Amino acid sequence: MSQSEHIKDLVRYGLEKDVDKFKEALNELIEHAKKTKRINYALQLQSLLRDTMRNEQNKTPKLVGSKSYFAGIENRELNDFILEKITSEYSFQNIVINDKTKNQLEFLVKEHTARKILEKYQLPISNKILFYGPSGCGKTLASYVLAGELKKLMFVINLGAIVSSKLGETSKNLAKIFRQASVEDSIIFIDEFDSLGKIRNYDQDHGEMKRIVNTILQLFDYLPQSSIVIAATNQIDMIDDALLRRFDLKVKLDLPNKKQIKALIELVLKNGNFEFDKKTLTSIIKNADGLSYYSIQKSLITTIKKTILENNIINPDRIVISSAIFNSLLLEEKKQIENN
Ligand SMILES: Nc1ncnc2c1ncn2[C@@H]1O[C@H](COP(=O)(O)OP(=O)(O)OP(=O)(O)O)[C@@H](O)[C@H]1O
Ligand SMILES: [Mg+2]
Repeated sequence: MSQSEHIKDLVRYGLEKDVDKFKEALNELIEHAKKTKRINYALQLQSLLRDTMRNEQNKTPKLVGSKSYFAGIENRELNDFILEKITSEYSFQNIVINDKTKNQLEFLVKEHTARKILEKYQLPISNKILFYGPSGCGKTLASYVLAGELKKLMFVINLGAIVSSKLGETSKNLAKIFRQASVEDSIIFIDEFDSLGKIRNYDQDHGEMKRIVNTILQLFDYLPQSSIVIAATNQIDMIDDALLRRFDLKVKLDLPNKKQIKALIELVLKNGNFEFDKKTLTSIIKNADGLSYYSIQKSLITTIKKTILENNIINPDRIVISSAIFNSLLLEEKKQIENN
């Protein structure tokens, strides 16, 4: 084929936006240039091709079934295990926690903010945190707060999916995710950390379980000090002791006590011009006792919505919300929990 034929191919594939065929045609032109002893021209074309491939990464749309499409599949599988990459604007003001926990978490933030100073003295930085406790009590929220306070990117990992979808490949996939997250100096948030324990049930000889625990222990050990792993579980008993020991900080986020229920209600009300019809919160706090932060917050928001819609309030300065509705919703929540 002559040089002009190769160029015609290039133009055609270029106009058709078929990147793979275009690259093939370009490679043929390069070979042709080498054969016809125009080495300089061949080298120039080659470096043009290399540069674009380097910059291209995932920016160009891929033709389904093309070579570059299949090359992307491995990364896509990895992305299935990363539920989301998030940045957060949450701060300690968005969460109700007891003083001890708050101090622990604030100290962690301080350690990371002043990491360079501590490293000068070769001091280790705490970077492996376990949040445990009942559902709806702030494990995920506390992770967002840390990401927000530290201004770090957070990778939310779906461990349940990793473990159940490809038994046997869990270790490999975990290692890939850790590698990616540590390069980006970020937080790895592993929800449902207890799903590791469930492998015991699938696997007779515990071989897979041991392998995964070992992988995690190693990944934890080699985690750069600037990265953070946060694991969350509501079944701490399912987690292997060797793994539990590796956490620098184990924080229980429990159901709210009376003081915390009050603080939560105030936190929700703070965002609007709302107040209760009766001055006393005593009966509300009593009815909310035993419920999670999530259930209480949900009931309160429903109460506010009902009050607004049922009274047709358009835009008054202060909206008086009904403690009767709130109390009945709280009792409903309790009943539902008892029935489950
Ligand atoms: N301690 C808290 N302070 C303020 N709000 C809270 C707190 N805990 C929970 N909430 C509210 O409830 C929502 C759900 O809580 P979150 O997702 O953090 O619970 P979780 O402990 O991760 O539960 P799960 O075990 O089901 O994942 C939060 O987005 C927040 O609105
Ligand atoms: Mg959660």
